[in-house]
Amino acid sequence: MSDKKPSGLEDVVVAQSSICYIDGQRGQLVYRGYDIDDLVENASFEEVAWLLWHGDLPTQSELDGLKADLAHSMVLPDHLLDLLKTLPFDANPMRVLSIGAAAMGTLDPAADDMSGEANNAKAVRLTAQLPLIMNAWHRISSDMTPIAPDVTESLAYNMLYCMNGEVPDPYAVETMDAALILHADHELNASTFSARVTAATLSDLHSAVVSAINTLKGPLHGGANEAVMKMLEEIGEVDNAADYVENAVANKKKIMGFGHRVYKAKDPRAVILERMSEELGKRAGNTKWFQMTHAVEEAFQPKVIEKQLFPNVDFYSASAYQVMGIPHSLFTPIFACSRVVGWTAHLLEQYANNRLFRPSSDYIGETGRKYAPIGER
Ligand code: COA
Repeated sequence: MSDKKPSGLEDVVVAQSSICYIDGQRGQLVYRGYDIDDLVENASFEEVAWLLWHGDLPTQSELDGLKADLAHSMVLPDHLLDLLKTLPFDANPMRVLSIGAAAMGTLDPAADDMSGEANNAKAVRLTAQLPLIMNAWHRISSDMTPIAPDVTESLAYNMLYCMNGEVPDPYAVETMDAALILHADHELNASTFSARVTAATLSDLHSAVVSAINTLKGPLHGGANEAVMKMLEEIGEVDNAADYVENAVANKKKIMGFGHRVYKAKDPRAVILERMSEELGKRAGNTKWFQMTHAVEEAFQPKVIEKQLFPNVDFYSASAYQVMGIPHSLFTPIFACSRVVGWTAHLLEQYANNRLFRPSSDYIGETGRKYAPIGER
């Protein structure tokens, strides 16, 4: 075996894209030419979805049309609900989301229609229905009845409303809307790349989204937000944070929510979520989770500054979701419900100018061996 660290495709350019730009040195994230701070400050998730899919911000009538299409799609087919009820109640919600997305493909008469128009409509339906699948599963697996969305309200509102049927606090909705915008796209991250690899074989859009969901699930990618929460629970109290970090460093244990393949500065999404997490904590009279996260950052940052490791998007989303009362097992599915917009934007771009992805490997195995009969091995 070679001692060389695998390249992990670091810095390899595999596509041209006009969707998302990251300046990792400056900590800048840009969707279709708009800085993420500008979008979080001024736009809704629905506007950003249109922007990512179509390249420009929507006009009022385009936005109204998109909201009407989303509202129309905000209902789960009975077949899908029945399917969810057959799954073991302890099934991982990301697995269930992937099953749900695959099932949506089986129920969609246009699943194999590869036209841009059909794929656009599928992107809207997936964006409307993945959060419903997530929340329906949350409730079914806890022996509760799924809650129908309020289709006059936003995706962010319904993300929270369909969890427990309570009208969500307006600042929680604002934070969720911001979180959905911040997670919506991130250039060729692992899940988006896997979606594009699947699509490049000319497999259909639902199948590509299923690949992406399963790729996002891992703790080095979307699963990190849940891992951050586990870490915070392990730490328990703000005063324990510094010792926890010392111990982790001594044992070469990773601090989840830290580090990034592209950012060599603080992730701009973490900067915004840090602010919102603090504000949520203050409003809820529960700043413990924010303070603990902040204490981990303060203790860990100086130790890894030479490796250019900084908090990423998952670091402060965990404490924000915790204060909103969101079950930990839904942290990563919420990421998927946002990133589906980015995945599908990339899929539309991939289908429009496709070439199969097929890299090569550096062969380091044996050569020239001859078959030996089984009794002689
Ligand atoms: N805690 C401690 N050390 C970390 C670290 C972390 N979270 N992330 C990276 N490092 C260290 C590695 O151990 C490695 O050290 P070494 O050079 O001494 O071996 C160095 O930093 C480079 O890490 P590497 O794993 O090669 O970087 P990568 O680009 O392959 O990985 C991540 C990027 C995101 C997978 C990695 O930073 C990580 O695992 N972070 C935690 C999971 C996470 O938050 N994921 C969400 C990303 S948005």
